[in-house]
Amino acid sequence: MDRWQTIIEPFRIHAVEPIRLTTEAERERALAVAGYNLFNIHADDVLIDLLTDSGTGAMSRDQWAAIQRGDESYAGSPSWFAFRDAVQELFPFTHIIPTHQGRAAEKILYSVVGGPGKVIPNNTHFDTTRANVEFTGAEAVDLVIPEGREPATIHPFKGNVDIAALERLLTERGADVPIVVVTITNNSGGGQPVSLANLHAVREVCDRFGKPLFLDACRFAENAWFIKTREPGQADRSVKEIVREVASLADGMTMSAKKDGLANIGGWLACNDDALAEQCRNLLILTEGFPTYGGLAGRDLEAIAQGLAEVIDEDYLRYRIRSTAYLGDALLAAGIPCVQPFGGHAVYLDARALLPHIPPLEYPGQALAVELYRAGGIRGCEIGTVMFGRHPDGSEAPAAMDLVRLAIPRRTYTQSHVDYVIEVARDLATRSQDLRGYRIVKEPAALRHFTARFDPLR
Ligand code: F0G
Repeated sequence: MDRWQTIIEPFRIHAVEPIRLTTEAERERALAVAGYNLFNIHADDVLIDLLTDSGTGAMSRDQWAAIQRGDESYAGSPSWFAFRDAVQELFPFTHIIPTHQGRAAEKILYSVVGGPGKVIPNNTHFDTTRANVEFTGAEAVDLVIPEGREPATIHPFKGNVDIAALERLLTERGADVPIVVVTITNNSGGGQPVSLANLHAVREVCDRFGKPLFLDACRFAENAWFIKTREPGQADRSVKEIVREVASLADGMTMSAKKDGLANIGGWLACNDDALAEQCRNLLILTEGFPTYGGLAGRDLEAIAQGLAEVIDEDYLRYRIRSTAYLGDALLAAGIPCVQPFGGHAVYLDARALLPHIPPLEYPGQALAVELYRAGGIRGCEIGTVMFGRHPDGSEAPAAMDLVRLAIPRRTYTQSHVDYVIEVARDLATRSQDLRGYRIVKEPAALRHFTARFDPLR
């Protein structure tokens, strides 16, 4: 078993999707039409789509088979029970509330616990989480450890919560804090894991201040793999055991099944509190649907149930984490600064460090993302000042970091696709000083990165 070092994709290809090759000239035209916003590009014009790992993975033979079992009964479908049991096998919360994706769970949860004057701490709120918190009038506070904000600092669990900062917040404003949230893995901070020890410490603080702890658990299996491989004493435990211990520390969770559910759509909200669950279910019926399907088809519930059984497979997780690091190692060797260690689902390029001649308010992350697309048809995602720079009061300021995320869809691309990405990035690194910044010509009031239009600066 240890004799061969190559980490192969632990699957064969069963159905193929064509990739349409494009020329640089075609991509330049597509960019101009799209206002230099990669969210506006037709996916047919993308060669390697690393925009997100969300809902973009390949389903397995067994998931497609499960889809055939999908039962579309409005209430009490067998597919609902399969889904509920699969979720509770890993996260034994009393109430499981299905939603069409993660942000629908967030919208419901924060509508109930948020509101003006409230403050919700998290290691780092993902953009939809922050927006859903702020939409209720509450304040979203990020309390990741200082190392989590330093792209080049090596730390095994850069997603950890700053326990002293959490204690301070709860001491000063405890009455305003309805719940404490921890995001595993910490997507906005570079896909960085949270240790079991840190989760225990957060739990202890929550107990002391009488606060419920919720997980934003989108990438729980990847987080568990990092715990298994990096945290002392965890190597001999199964991923499932680790996931269940993590779940046992929380009072509830929001989840996007589009990540570690290995599905193309879906999510859920879970909790142990009966009164909270009832309030959430009432909102669910208004916006998502009846509590046994919550915005999903029966077939989607089946795909998620099967996905949850597959995602904790250790051969899969070993390949998953190693193949992401393979890309990161090569980019670093090409002289592209990256957030280190590499995340589970993505490699985050440090555009601010690569392009020091482009000030943050000219969006170095946008410049790098656009150039990866123009040169190679590779679509990544700016996670920086475009995404986080505009504040609810209308002011604009540089984000903590200007990153470009190359997110790896699950079980979708092969090593030769990744080798191509490496070749394009290596070439780009040799002419990084020629890249120019952007200005925004049009933007909406919130979540501007999705629809803003840009002009290149000359
Ligand atoms: N929380 C985290 C940590 C996420 O990464 C996401 C989505 C959500 C919540 C919302 O889930 O998309 O199902 O509504 N992240 C995707 C991404 C969009 O590209 O990282 P959703």
